[in-house]
Amino acid sequence: MASSLAVEFHDQKLPARGTLVFFLGKKKQFGQRLQKLDERSNGHISRAVKQSSFDAERGKCIEILSPARLDFSRILLVGLGGKLSNEDLQWTKLGGKLSDLLKDGSRDGIAIIPENGEKTGKDEEFSPRNIAALAGGLVLKQYEFDRYKVKSKGKTPDKKNRISSIGFYCRNPKESKRIFQSREGVRAGTFLARDLVNEPANILGPVEFALRMRDMEKFGIEVNILDETEMAARGMNALLAVGQGSKRESRLVVMHWKGNPQTQNRPVAIVGKGVCFDSGGISIKPSAGMEDMKGDMAGAACVAGLMHSLAVRKSSANVVGVIGLAENMPDGNAQRPGDIVTSMSGQTIEVINTDAEGRLVLADALTYTIQSWKPGLVIDLATLTGAILVALGKEYAGLFSNNERLAARLVKAGEKTGEKLWRMPLGKKYDKLIDSRIADMKNSGGRLAGSTTAAQFLQRYVGNIPWAHLDIAGTAMASPKNDVNSSWGSGFGVHLLDEYISSNHE
Ligand code: BES
Ligand code: MN
Ligand code: ZN
Repeated sequence: MASSLAVEFHDQKLPARGTLVFFLGKKKQFGQRLQKLDERSNGHISRAVKQSSFDAERGKCIEILSPARLDFSRILLVGLGGKLSNEDLQWTKLGGKLSDLLKDGSRDGIAIIPENGEKTGKDEEFSPRNIAALAGGLVLKQYEFDRYKVKSKGKTPDKKNRISSIGFYCRNPKESKRIFQSREGVRAGTFLARDLVNEPANILGPVEFALRMRDMEKFGIEVNILDETEMAARGMNALLAVGQGSKRESRLVVMHWKGNPQTQNRPVAIVGKGVCFDSGGISIKPSAGMEDMKGDMAGAACVAGLMHSLAVRKSSANVVGVIGLAENMPDGNAQRPGDIVTSMSGQTIEVINTDAEGRLVLADALTYTIQSWKPGLVIDLATLTGAILVALGKEYAGLFSNNERLAARLVKAGEKTGEKLWRMPLGKKYDKLIDSRIADMKNSGGRLAGSTTAAQFLQRYVGNIPWAHLDIAGTAMASPKNDVNSSWGSGFGVHLLDEYISSNHE
């Protein structure tokens, strides 16, 4: 859930009580205001620093409780480490660390005082932009999916101590606030994506997911939902085959943000895999860990989060988001291994493994997108293969592309936002691995190069238009807690694509 944390930006005057947070560089020199407090407390603060082994490493901290002669409940001194560059990402990550440091024992107000006793004269540190990024990281890291923690809500010490407001006492509060607020849309989009991924599959099936997308009309996004009849009429048999074993109907959702109504430019299309639960179907998965497959709609969740962000911040880009929603279940009516389906493009697929369902969903979603929207380029996101976890772990998402410029731009956007992409190979020899004896292709190329053969499958549906595929199976769900996320669903890709669109299409 989006946290209810209020972030405020004030001018110089500090509050009279509560928690104060200061930062120290490697030399541990005090800034002006910390110096003053130290004098008032008769040197309590500087003595505490001397007696501790605190080395001001970035994100480490010492906590001084009830500092002598002061009314504050505690003072936190947070290490800045070596020189921080002016990159937003470093400040965002530091904000995430700060969030962890503040998590418990913060019943009263929290004042963060960005000042650095070791200014080099350039005074680049703690610019409004740095402060906004710091606050942004803090908010991102505070997110917690607690919708179903009914019994413990407001009761456990952890919950009671949840921070409700934070004030930054900085030099240029107006500007800090302006920048912080300009990023509110992308944070809300990230929270939306996390919510969707964290939501269990009994609550969030294809129909429910689609209905949540309907809500985005209020931001000026045009939302169109295709039901099974409409999809059948368009020949989306590959997508429908995935959902045919489920009691719950499949959906295709189209979201259009026309940020620049004047432009004749082709839209940017973003396509997401939305398998609300992937049991594997008749090629059923082993039970250990199967519960994680509620997150197999993380690609779709990312598309939703991105559209949300673009609309809230009134992006001037023209973007269409398409998500294919289905539930993959075993059943008397489910598709069988060996079935052959004719996809919307006319190409036939031998379904040798019903657990390779994401590519079937994307095949029709991609065909629909390209035929109906004639985009200038397409980017798809999918928790597509377990093999990408084997290759890259949870550090990088896999990037596959037929276009050097698009690939380079995406990698660059990811470096900026901390959502790292690693380019993976594509090629004719890999493509051959999915040739079928009796149909145009089969839906699995076997064990070797599993992520690449999955991407080759998708490539057969995009032809020559610039295309990139992000395999986010390792990064979007069940991801290890990182600098800016402590939730199971990470919202991976929302900041990345928002940055990509903002840098290249606005
Ligand atoms: N949804 C899975 C991939 C996945 C695995 C996502 C782990 C997140 C974490 C996908 O539909 C799948 O089952 N892929 C198979 C493909 C194989 C049958 C060719 C896989 O990776 O094993
Ligand atoms: Mn599967
Ligand atoms: Zn899947």
